[in-house]
Amino acid sequence: MIKIAIDGTAASGKGTLAKKLASKYNFVHLDTGLLYRKVASDLIDQKKMNYGNLEVNSCEIAKKLDFQDLIKENLRSEEIASLASKIATIPELRKILDNKQKTFVNENINKFSGCVLDGRDIGTKILPNADFKFFIDASIEIRAKRRLLEKNISFLHENDEECMLQSLIEKMIVRDRLDNNRLISPLVPAEDAYVIDTSSMNAEQLFLEVSKIIEGKL
Ligand code: DC
Repeated sequence: MIKIAIDGTAASGKGTLAKKLASKYNFVHLDTGLLYRKVASDLIDQKKMNYGNLEVNSCEIAKKLDFQDLIKENLRSEEIASLASKIATIPELRKILDNKQKTFVNENINKFSGCVLDGRDIGTKILPNADFKFFIDASIEIRAKRRLLEKNISFLHENDEECMLQSLIEKMIVRDRLDNNRLISPLVPAEDAYVIDTSSMNAEQLFLEVSKIIEGKL
C-alpha cells in the first residue's frame, strides 16, 4: 500500500489536497482532524467541556468513536475547532486516537492500493514510514482569508468583513500556538517531508505540484 502523509496548519490547503489526491489515485482518505473535532463536538453537545474532567470525558467519547459518524455531521465550526485543538494536547486522548488512525490504515490495506491521511502528526507519528510526506503552510492572513471565503458570508459593510477577518486571525494564532507548542506530537515537518508554502498558490497549482513529485518517484 502506498502511504501519503500530509501535515500542515489550518486552512493551508492540506485537506483539499488530500481529497484531490485520494480521488485521482483511488486511495482511501482520512481527515484525522475530524476525529479530534468529533470528540470536541460531543463534549459540547453533552455539556462536558466546562466542568468535570476534560481528560476523562474526552477519552470516554474517543473510545466509542465510530468512523461513520465523522461524515454525517458538520464539524467545521470555529467553536469545535478551538476545543479540538485544546483537547489535542491531552496525551491519553492522542493515544486512543492514534490507535484508531493506525487501525483505519490496517483495515484498508487489502482494500485500496494506497491511503492519504492529513492532519498534524501524520508524517512524524502516525505514518513515520510513509512513502510521501508533505508539510503544507501559508501566511496567517491568507489562511484567514480562505476560511472567511469558505463561510460564504455577504457583508453589508467593509468594516464588518475586516472585523471578522481580524477575529479569525486571532483565533488561528491561538490554535497555531497550541498545535505547534504542545509537548506531545506538536505540528512540525517530518525531516523527510516536502515543505510547501501555498501563500501564492491556488488548490489546483498545489495539486499539480504534489502530483508531479509523486509521479516522478513512482
Ligand atoms: O485539521 P483540523 O483543523 O480539522 O484539526 C482540528 C484540530 O485537531 C487541530 O487544531 C489540532 C487537532 N489535530 C491534531 O492534533 N492532530 C491531528 N493529526 C489532526 C488534528
